[in-house]
Amino acid sequence: MRAHDERDGALRWGVLGATSYIATHLMPAIAAAPGCALTAVASRPERAGSARDVGRAFGATAHPDYASLLADPAVDAVYVPLPNTEHVDWTLRALAAGKHVLVEKPLAMDEDGCARVEKAAEAASRTVMEAFMYRFHPQQSRAAEILASGAIGELRLVRASFAFRIESGSGNIRLEPALGGGATWDVGCYAVDVPLLFFGQAPRRVSARFSSRPGLDVETSAVATMDFGQGRSAVVDYGIDYGPRAAYELQGTRGTLMVRNAWAMDGEDGVITVLTQDGGVREEIVPAANHYRLQVEAFARAVCEGGPAPMSLAASRRTARVGSALVASAAAGGAAVDTSDEASEGP
Ligand SMILES: NC(=O)c1ccc[n+]([C@@H]2O[C@H](COP(=O)([O-])OP(=O)(O)OC[C@H]3O[C@@H](n4cnc5c(N)ncnc54)[C@H](OP(=O)(O)O)[C@@H]3O)[C@@H](O)[C@H]2O)c1
Repeated sequence: MRAHDERDGALRWGVLGATSYIATHLMPAIAAAPGCALTAVASRPERAGSARDVGRAFGATAHPDYASLLADPAVDAVYVPLPNTEHVDWTLRALAAGKHVLVEKPLAMDEDGCARVEKAAEAASRTVMEAFMYRFHPQQSRAAEILASGAIGELRLVRASFAFRIESGSGNIRLEPALGGGATWDVGCYAVDVPLLFFGQAPRRVSARFSSRPGLDVETSAVATMDFGQGRSAVVDYGIDYGPRAAYELQGTRGTLMVRNAWAMDGEDGVITVLTQDGGVREEIVPAANHYRLQVEAFARAVCEGGPAPMSLAASRRTARVGSALVASAAAGGAAVDTSDEASEGP
């Protein structure tokens, strides 16, 4: 793959959809990242005014529809923060237009969608990465470092929990089945990613129980277990019904590591607590960092150096497989569903 090098100038980004969260979090991150420029934004034709407003705020060209942004030769990389059902399609279209793509989680809601993107990215010699921003926060690498140091012994159990409440009738896309709503593909995929990352493999099997708030056609909370073999397990819960909660724990043979706030950082310091079997309690503060900006920088570096994306599409495929298996298990009343693979990726 030919790298986007310094002679090409800054990596020029275009954004599909002028969403408010993205305009206040990701767009400033792109605009501030060294070697990056935010040059274009697009809205659907019926919301052209939003793209114009956001474009004006960032000094970016406003396109009247997404296809027009993809045809813009002044865009090298596209960020896709659309409803979940749109991710695969617009990623494939962006690749066909010769763009690199950073796509919001979940890249796809099944393994097949990830595989199609992987194949298209390879054919187009372009970089695609799923936007799991929490992986780029320094507290994440610090937690991995503490685990690798042996401070808590061998990892046996991961607990991850991500939840916040979305009110019924709020019009939120997360409550709409036709737009890929539901807790699993919103907060759930983050919580699922944690044990996969720290165990460095897919579980052998998973089972899940979902609940839905009356009047809603999506699951609003879930409790899942994962069996990684050799006495290693994960317990994951997530929801858009209760909260807020955004924490995980790594339980080892000689201690426990707790990350108090893994995903909803918004400028807060990270806090990691380590409890050891001898009664030791240690709290480490990881200074606040903007994980969105760090994610953009890491993606841009991979594009500019022609190296692999810092989160691989194989890892995305594995997360999608486990998410789909949780849905299948819940539909089967909590029956165990096989999810094993041979792939392995460390933290
Ligand atoms: N990484 C994070 O921290 C984070 C945070 C929030 C969301 N996300 C992800 O970003 C994606 C969008 O979430 P969001 O909360 O930003 O959603 P949102 O506020 O509802 O925005 C979604 C945008 O998608 C566009 N869109 C295209 N087709 C649409 C349709 N049929 N219905 C509604 N909108 C449509 C709209 O942009 P135009 O009207 O301008 O065309 C809309 O503004 C999701 O995949 C979510 O998982 C990630």
